[in-house]
Amino acid sequence: MSLLLRGGRVIDPASGVDAVADVLLEQGRVARVGPGPEPAAARVIEAQGCWVLPGLVDLHVHLREPGQEHKEDIASGTRAAVAGGFTSVCCMPNTKPVNDTRAVTELIVRRAREVGLARVYPVGAISRGLQGEALCEYAELKEAGIVAVSDDGRCVMDCGLMRRALEYAATFDLPVLQHCEDHQLACGGAMHEGRVSTRTGLTAQPAQAESIIVARDLELAELTGARYHAQHLSTAGALRHVREAKARGLAVSCEVAPHHFALSDEACAGYDSNAKVNPPLRSAEHVRAVREALADGTVDAIATDHAPHAVVDKEVEFGRAAYGISGLETCLPLALELWRDRVVPLSRLVALLTYLPARLLGLPAGTLTLGAAADVTVVDPELCWTVDPARFVSRGHNTPFAGRAMRGAARYTIVGGEVVFARG
Ligand code: DOR
Ligand code: ZN
Repeated sequence: MSLLLRGGRVIDPASGVDAVADVLLEQGRVARVGPGPEPAAARVIEAQGCWVLPGLVDLHVHLREPGQEHKEDIASGTRAAVAGGFTSVCCMPNTKPVNDTRAVTELIVRRAREVGLARVYPVGAISRGLQGEALCEYAELKEAGIVAVSDDGRCVMDCGLMRRALEYAATFDLPVLQHCEDHQLACGGAMHEGRVSTRTGLTAQPAQAESIIVARDLELAELTGARYHAQHLSTAGALRHVREAKARGLAVSCEVAPHHFALSDEACAGYDSNAKVNPPLRSAEHVRAVREALADGTVDAIATDHAPHAVVDKEVEFGRAAYGISGLETCLPLALELWRDRVVPLSRLVALLTYLPARLLGLPAGTLTLGAAADVTVVDPELCWTVDPARFVSRGHNTPFAGRAMRGAARYTIVGGEVVFARG
């Protein structure tokens, strides 16, 4: 059956479209954008007053399956994804067991297909068991379906191993995604090192734990000519390094997470472990730098780092709590704040959530051009709501945004021409 989205404002930065138009989806593809006869058998969604966007793409989620299904699984995680407007998500390999073999990649691909909500693209591990010692077999992982490699949750500290990872991954055209954290310098610090950590007395990690690794890795990217992507950057220094590297013509990229532009380390002042995340929430000057980097094009993508945890992992003292924020269901309205605050124009904001991330990993997503996959998010930009973690679709209710007023939400999420989420 075909699906007609009628009268919405279509915003598709990849094709330069921003206009009120009908969108016709047929046989899982975009069949028409613009006026035309209404097919007899079409289901119609009235989209007046809404935006019709390419389905949102998230480069960085933790779905926890296999092994930690009490925190999240592929079904609950992709349900949360589509509720947040995401039609494609890339899941990190720090599962149990780690996604460092064909068997684990295949399991994720198969489960995601069975569930049939968002499209799931697995990211394989850089090193076996995320141990930072020996490289995985990228050829067999790629054959099984990975779109990139990362040791996310841990940083590849060994410079020689990182060089070989970049070279080896490049031969399979796989980007290397780095979790940038010097483990010795960060020393397990529970929050950002600064005025607030002095006040709270919590253990802390300096901004340089991130920026030092970015500086090193950019040198290695230059040495190898490989595709390097820095994950969840949060510091002025790291973003300055990326900006300079891009100006020199290096093919490098980076992402930022909503909590790093929407919150500062003041959120840790009350010892709320829901504000504990790695990299940590930073001081106001770093938050400003993240917003500047979004504004000037240094940042290539907004990614949630959706990290769901169980109550037992979070309802403990700040120092002992797990790092992470359940982010899929709050990303879109937080990103819209950037537009409302005039940090980025709307078309750029949509690009940061759609075709820019898709292009980085070569995903067949992120645009509404003719013949593209019929993945669409219908957004009501004026829908006002208040964050209530108890109502999250995700199994992870860990959010520092509880009680925060939000404006904007997905009304319908469509994958392959099928409505997989409808609000209310
Ligand atoms: O906050 C985080 N949570 N940062 C990471 O790097 C890992 C993630 C997780 O897996 O929970
Ligand atoms: Zn990470």
